[in-house]
Amino acid sequence: MLSATSTSPAITRTPGQRHALAHIPGEDGWPVIGNTLKLLRDPIGTVETFHARYGPVYRSRAFGYRSVSLLGPEGNELVLFDREKNFSSAAGWGPVLDQVFPRGLMLMDFEEHRLHRKALGVAFKTGPMKSYHDALNDGISRRIAEWHLEGEGQGAGVEFAFYPHIKQLTLDLAATSFLGIGLGEGARDVNRAFVDMVAAAVGVVRKPVPGTQMWRGVNGRKVISAFFADEIPKRRTGNGADLLSELCRTTKEDGTLLTVQEIIDHMSFLMMAAHDTLTSSVSSLVYHLAVHPEWQDKLRQEMLALGVVAGANLPYERLGDLELIEMAFKESMRINPPVPAIPRRAVRDFQFKGFDIPGGTGVGINPLFTHRMPSIWPEPDKFDPLRFTDDAVRGRHRYAWVPFGGGAHMCLGLHFAYMQAKTFFFHLLTTSRVSVAPDYAPRWQMWPIPKPTDGLPIRIERI
Ligand code: HEM
Repeated sequence: MLSATSTSPAITRTPGQRHALAHIPGEDGWPVIGNTLKLLRDPIGTVETFHARYGPVYRSRAFGYRSVSLLGPEGNELVLFDREKNFSSAAGWGPVLDQVFPRGLMLMDFEEHRLHRKALGVAFKTGPMKSYHDALNDGISRRIAEWHLEGEGQGAGVEFAFYPHIKQLTLDLAATSFLGIGLGEGARDVNRAFVDMVAAAVGVVRKPVPGTQMWRGVNGRKVISAFFADEIPKRRTGNGADLLSELCRTTKEDGTLLTVQEIIDHMSFLMMAAHDTLTSSVSSLVYHLAVHPEWQDKLRQEMLALGVVAGANLPYERLGDLELIEMAFKESMRINPPVPAIPRRAVRDFQFKGFDIPGGTGVGINPLFTHRMPSIWPEPDKFDPLRFTDDAVRGRHRYAWVPFGGGAHMCLGLHFAYMQAKTFFFHLLTTSRVSVAPDYAPRWQMWPIPKPTDGLPIRIERI
């Protein structure tokens, strides 16, 4: 078993005691709840206030844990690049993900993580990616055509809440490209179970008490596990081109196949990692394009210049030619990073900016804060994709923009995410114009994953 080869060092100390961090500036907040409510109410404002009050290294208490925040690009680099293997991702994410998504990549560390990541990497090479892209192209173009049909006879275009629609589309695309199943009753059961698992991961009640989200999530895990256990033996010998089939045939460094349980855990985790992040980032860009029609026009021109026949699929080989949409997608993830904060736990004592921080400390970095630092991003609220020209990127700290993290745990699905986003916007913008009501004021809930609380009402019109 791979787990026997784990080299994760034991955490050298667990400073549950306040005095272990007493030399670090910061505040514990209210008894019991600490700063939880403040952070939930205003995740950006609260962190900005703490930064102004205490500087880029401060201690706080929230969500039941005391932790130290390291803010800014240097903190991101220290924790994500983790040259000295000081930080455990498993112990950082464990409290959030362990019950419904155990043994996913983010819940492994160091040598064990390296072995599993290498095995999974095979499913993200060019050959398999092309097959997933075929499924994405077909599913997306068909669904956008259906959206237009819904509005038939309603006058100029169709108005609908974008967020639930893209969430459903992302789920359905995962059924075909990840699982290789059609969109029938089977997919609906799997999707429902999966949605319950994702919701449980961020549920307030952390025990599977009947009736709670965690209880539904744990039950969803049973449904998903039964589905995979049934499918895996068939996929081992088949020639399916979906992600599940790829993992069923993948071997580890020692030449053995991933076990059934390993595939269940990795597949569940991959689907979770892909789902709300894609839903959030695509929603964010739709909103920004709706309020910036000039950018819609620029992206559309670039897409039409590819010379792809109207209504045809976007060829995989042309994805790299869509530079403006890539810049726009990056800019919308700067403003609304789908993973606004990243937790770790120190496995040994370390130093940062003159502070000695003991092993065992929960450590957090904050892409949301970093992405809005005015010293790096002038006018941080302004949507400006030109911040991502090659020259502009070269002039910035490498860890100033970290929506996909960095280092050993950097998002494994990053190219998949660009591929799906580019393909979605290709089909949307070459067929449609997107707008929001002139007086529309967006309401984004930034935590735990940014989403529009009003569902993001938009209008799309055929062009
Ligand atoms: C816009 C979309 C996405 C964003 C912003 C995003 C963001 C992230 C971030 C920040 C991490 C690192 C977390 C950490 O270091 O603690 C991560 C890890 C991961 N992501 Fe993504 N992700 C996205 C889409 C996807 C997709 C589509 C997939 C799969 C197809 C995926 C699979 C993974 C996996 C497996 C990991 C764990 C990697 C590891 O621990 O080695 N993600 N993602």
